[in-house]
Amino acid sequence: MTGSDFTVLPRHVAVIMDGNGRWAKQRGLSRSEGHIEGAKTFRRIGEYAGDLGIKHITFYAFSTENWARPQQEVAAIMHLFGDYLNEAYDRLEENRAKGIRLRFIGDRNGISKELCGLMDTLEGLTADMDKVNLNIAINYGGQQEITHAVQSIAADVKAGLLRPEDITKETIEARLYTGEQPPVDLMIRPSGEQRISNFLLWQSAYAEFWYSDVLWPDFTERHFDEALKAYEKRNRRFGGI
Ligand code: IPE
Ligand code: IPE
Ligand code: MG
Repeated sequence: MTGSDFTVLPRHVAVIMDGNGRWAKQRGLSRSEGHIEGAKTFRRIGEYAGDLGIKHITFYAFSTENWARPQQEVAAIMHLFGDYLNEAYDRLEENRAKGIRLRFIGDRNGISKELCGLMDTLEGLTADMDKVNLNIAINYGGQQEITHAVQSIAADVKAGLLRPEDITKETIEARLYTGEQPPVDLMIRPSGEQRISNFLLWQSAYAEFWYSDVLWPDFTERHFDEALKAYEKRNRRFGGI
């Protein structure tokens, strides 16, 4: 498909990349091998979304709750993330030619210095790109994100820079990791789970949800098309009639 095959494209798509572990288990493989396959799917779908003309896409790679997993699995995920960052750096010119702006959303505390350095570098080197905003949520939690925003607002109030009565929805939005990016229009979750798992809680206030039983490593461009086709047919009312 191409972007023109759709009458309306979501401005911002969020993807919960779920089901790597079950995919691996079905094949008698280790969970880490599931994450390796999932990382390949992420590259494919990220590329495809950009080709279709999706302006903003956010992939959930690691949640603040995922630290509860065995240390070995966490290490494997961080290692794969590092591989991706190094590859993105090696392919910088290619990414820039496609107009891809990379952003990493989430709490940097807990992420190794080396990975943080690479994230900062990639964000800096793609900051002038504006065709595709590719956000990767790493050590991300929606509740934590809102908590940080509230702390920063409280600090400004305490310092006399802001009056409580001047706090608006926009004041809060501007302090979220997604800053000036549009709210989520379409939230995609494979793997059969129908929950939000602390992802983009504020930003998906009026998101359309699309679920599928397909496990993330098996997720293809056709599934993405299916989600976009379903989105096209949704009647978004935003509380109106
Ligand atoms: C998603 O796949 C990847 C991360 C959460 C990092 P899972 O690892 O959650 O796969 P399942 O849900 O156990 O199948
Ligand atoms: C959500 O998946 C987090 C990511 C995909 C990174 P989980 O597998 O962690 O979510 P739960 O535990 O099933 O809610
Ligand atoms: Mg899961």
